[in-house]
Amino acid sequence: MADIILGIESSCDDTSAAVICDGVLMSNVIASQDVHRAFGGVVPELASRAHEQNIVPVVSEALSRAGVAPSDLTAIAFTRGPGLLGSLLVGTSFAKALGLALDIPIIMVNHLQGHLLAGFVKEKGQEAASPSFPYLCLLVSGGNSQIVRVDSPLEFTILGQTIDDAVGEAFDKCSKMMGLGYPGGPVIDRLAKLGDPTRFKFAKPHIPGLDYSFSGIKTSLLYFVRDEMAKDPSFLENNKEDICASFQKTLIDILMDKLVKAARQTGIKEVAIGGGVSANSGLRSRIAEEGRKRGWHTYLPAFKFTTDNAAMIAIAGYYHYLAGERTPLDVAPVSRMADF
Ligand code: KG4
Repeated sequence: MADIILGIESSCDDTSAAVICDGVLMSNVIASQDVHRAFGGVVPELASRAHEQNIVPVVSEALSRAGVAPSDLTAIAFTRGPGLLGSLLVGTSFAKALGLALDIPIIMVNHLQGHLLAGFVKEKGQEAASPSFPYLCLLVSGGNSQIVRVDSPLEFTILGQTIDDAVGEAFDKCSKMMGLGYPGGPVIDRLAKLGDPTRFKFAKPHIPGLDYSFSGIKTSLLYFVRDEMAKDPSFLENNKEDICASFQKTLIDILMDKLVKAARQTGIKEVAIGGGVSANSGLRSRIAEEGRKRGWHTYLPAFKFTTDNAAMIAIAGYYHYLAGERTPLDVAPVSRMADF
């Protein structure tokens, strides 16, 4: 009998459901919420309401694209946290209700584990290479910036993490500050391709060990733009490509310095990347380039598995299922999760 897992993701502003059969992806449906664009950031109450509207059609679509009936399911994996509580509540409640109705186990998944294991999502008919254990994963999103050592699908150690803002937040807040739009990462990425990354210099933080800090560079950009605009009000409009390219390069330098240090300290040469910021074209080519230079095997998830998706939750849940883990029905979602 095949193990068929339904994955459900609702931690932020994407409602997603996916079906995997014996570890192979059969469907992955994502409903993104455009309603937040006008506000320049995710509005938690609107996100929960949109999840409520989306969850039934998204799950139905995922089952139908996979050619699977609810009664075929073996277990339901869902994101328990971290994330927005009201959003998580929708996915968690749905998973509990469906699990109860079908009398099948539910399996809670830490959203971050999903990003860390995104490289293990196998699509039907495609032979994508997955990292070997142990590997280092640079986990970079709107809420996290971490270097994690992954020893197995169930063993994770945080080697370093941000002490303030996440790198995705730096992209988003700086884009908003420059009036470039939301989410900032893709906008800055697009403009950076047209600019000169060496034109402007922004101060890099000096944080000991493998930890990160991204709040200083935000302030550095703010003061730089403010001072230049005082001299020339059209400075931003005339130089936005170079500003974005230089700003993005600084963020990538900061990320890469610590990743290289972590690889050197641990002797690990298997290096993966995950989270929304792993869609950044500059970061992707830089990791590939460092990898070639340093003899690493690098793993870049397909674009569709970089931002929030249920395929990564389903695969993480599958490993927990195989390990015999089951989650009681009185489980509650949590906005923060202290550890893996
Ligand atoms: O993982 P994710 O979808 O959500 C969580 O934070 O959990 O990540 C969203 C973040 C946002 O900060 C967004 O600006 C960033 O990922 N992002 C990017 C790119 N695409 C998305 N950052 C830089 N370059 C991109 N191409």
